[in-house]
Amino acid sequence: MIQRPRGTRDFLPDEMEKRRFYENILRRTAKTFGFREIATPIFEESELFILRSGPNVLGELYAFKDKGDRDIALRPEMTAPAIRMFVNEMSNEPRPIKMFYFGQCFRYERPQSGRYREFFQFGAELIGNANAETDAEIIAMAVSMIRALGLKDYKVRIGHIGVLRQKLIEADVPKDRMAEVLQKLDKKLYEEAEPLLQSMSVSKENIDNIFKLTETVGGKEVLNSIPGDAGDYLRNIIEILAAMGVNGVEIDLGVVRGLDYYTGIVFEAEAPSLGAEKQICGGGSYTLSELFGGEKVFSTGFAIGFDRILLAMEKEGQVFKNEGVKAYVVPASEDVKLEASKVVALLRENEIVSDIDIMGRKMGKAMKYASAIKAEYVVIVGTQELEQKSVTVRNMETGEQTLVKINSLVGFIAN
Ligand code: HAM
Repeated sequence: MIQRPRGTRDFLPDEMEKRRFYENILRRTAKTFGFREIATPIFEESELFILRSGPNVLGELYAFKDKGDRDIALRPEMTAPAIRMFVNEMSNEPRPIKMFYFGQCFRYERPQSGRYREFFQFGAELIGNANAETDAEIIAMAVSMIRALGLKDYKVRIGHIGVLRQKLIEADVPKDRMAEVLQKLDKKLYEEAEPLLQSMSVSKENIDNIFKLTETVGGKEVLNSIPGDAGDYLRNIIEILAAMGVNGVEIDLGVVRGLDYYTGIVFEAEAPSLGAEKQICGGGSYTLSELFGGEKVFSTGFAIGFDRILLAMEKEGQVFKNEGVKAYVVPASEDVKLEASKVVALLRENEIVSDIDIMGRKMGKAMKYASAIKAEYVVIVGTQELEQKSVTVRNMETGEQTLVKINSLVGFIAN
């Protein structure tokens, strides 16, 4: 038997129905914020991701040569593709440009609960003005999506990577080695960050200050201790979010992010119930467009780890009820088969989820099957009933049977 590759999953019908349901909730929320859906290829030229994704993503890239000897990679995320698309096709569109996407991404990681090699992101990118309103719009939408899914226990933390980058520059960390340091700080690997910084001749005092900065955590009260304009910028965002009904967001300058392209605010949402892989959403503002040959524009965005947020909802006991079949049509004998086909066609034309016996089952077995698939009604098409232009409808929950005229069947079942 051939097994599926490690870190991938199959989705059976029940699971798929659930995923589509929640995916559409996210789509609706994005639309209410004025965002429009886009799609980009699942594979791109490797360079797109090599340019600015940082050491974390590079080590995890699914990259290969195609038959034309081109370097190709499966997308590990969708921000770079979205911005490439903007540069190629949308740079003349009126601003702001608000786009969202849903699709699979690939990272060669060590699989575990909530961490896969193929996973799904629901994300959004906003190209607009460099101001707090733009960043707040993105954070508000991320929070609205988490809420719309019904997740209760989650935390949102906002930081500002610009502050940390500035601090690293002041401490004489070479620009081309910044990503290495940020990677360690992102993972809170202080014991590894310290010798790394020492190897770059950063003083003990500066190292302490850098670490201290990443420990600036709290409510509005910590904003005053943030150097430069970043404190005011974050205050402004918090105020706009509060006006939009988004409260309880925490300030945390320790939010560093694993990707290398962020330049301004950065934020993350986590669901504590998930344990080690608890990050359900990440984002921030960044510059990528000029790297791909476009003009310099302000962009900000986020991506929700769709698989992880579903896991968190499940952990909280949220149950999804599959829709199932509304009506199951059974011909009582051979000679009424065509009439049964007409009945099922009538139901389907009226958008009633219905099925018909195609296995040639006898009535008793057909009834058993109908209860196995949790059909709400069984519609029995028999000779006698047809003489009265009727069918027998059995309510599978109560067992009640009713003779129903075919021309009022749709109304009876849809009620
Ligand atoms: P990211 O933090 O790398 O950001 O990924 C976003 C989310 O995808 C994570 O918070 C996590 O929930 C989920 N995720 C990441 N890796 C895996 C995995 N192996 N298995 C399951 N879920 C995973 C980005 O990708 C950025 N493009 C977000 C962004 C958009 N920033 C600006 N715009």
